[in-house]
Amino acid sequence: MLADETIPQIRPVRAEAWLEFVQVLTGVALVAFMWMHMLLVASINVDLGGGRVLNLIARFFEASDMTQIGGPLIAAVMLVHFVVAARKLPLRVREQRAIWSHSLSFHHTDTWLWVVQAGTAFIILILGSIHMWTVLTTLPITAAKSAGRIQGRWWLGFYLVLLPMVELHVGIGVYRAGVKWGLIKRASRKASARFETKLALAMIAIGLVSLFTFLVLTKA
Ligand code: HEM
Repeated sequence: MLADETIPQIRPVRAEAWLEFVQVLTGVALVAFMWMHMLLVASINVDLGGGRVLNLIARFFEASDMTQIGGPLIAAVMLVHFVVAARKLPLRVREQRAIWSHSLSFHHTDTWLWVVQAGTAFIILILGSIHMWTVLTTLPITAAKSAGRIQGRWWLGFYLVLLPMVELHVGIGVYRAGVKWGLIKRASRKASARFETKLALAMIAIGLVSLFTFLVLTKA
């Protein structure tokens, strides 16, 4: 009798552990992609906006079909990550009110970080999808084409929103995953949070420099 009663509880726990694993795995893949992506886009700065280095890298990725295959793959990983993580998002108004009042009364930084991470997730899903669709449906990637978009100003505003959202989400995500999986211990939480903040600011700075180069130095 006792064994029967325990069965229904074992399955959800196991399913939850799998979902948690998929969430972390897709999260790590996306973080690795985002850091690589930032550095590849930043190649526009190597020859001060000339575009030769960026064009060479873009040609290599497209000639080996990595962009054509990797692009949609990243979009799929992003969608899986969102769907899996969404099981914890407060989608109903009642749940949103509850999480808001808890966050206000707890005065707990990690609770606030969770609220920011959930909010940025929605924005990244929408803006990231628009961005990937635009770039991947107008291949090949060239410095001139990217500069044309950014010098058109509309895309500049778009990236000025997307860039900090992505880096906030990535920074908080890496920190929270570290805490959840026991890699960041209670004693080192503050130092880890400081390191994550510096890393996020550095990535935002690299992104801003790239946008400036596209805007001012690169010929569209
Ligand atoms: C799927 C493959 C992707 C490709 C091929 C790609 C390609 C590019 C290119 C060529 C640019 C230069 C600007 C332009 O051409 O409009 C750019 C900029 C940017 N991308 Fe992506 N991107 C991809 C995915 C993503 C994703 C998933 C995100 C975040 C959700 C993202 C965020 C950004 C941001 C914030 C910029 C502004 C420049 C910077 O901060 O470095 N990209 N991307």
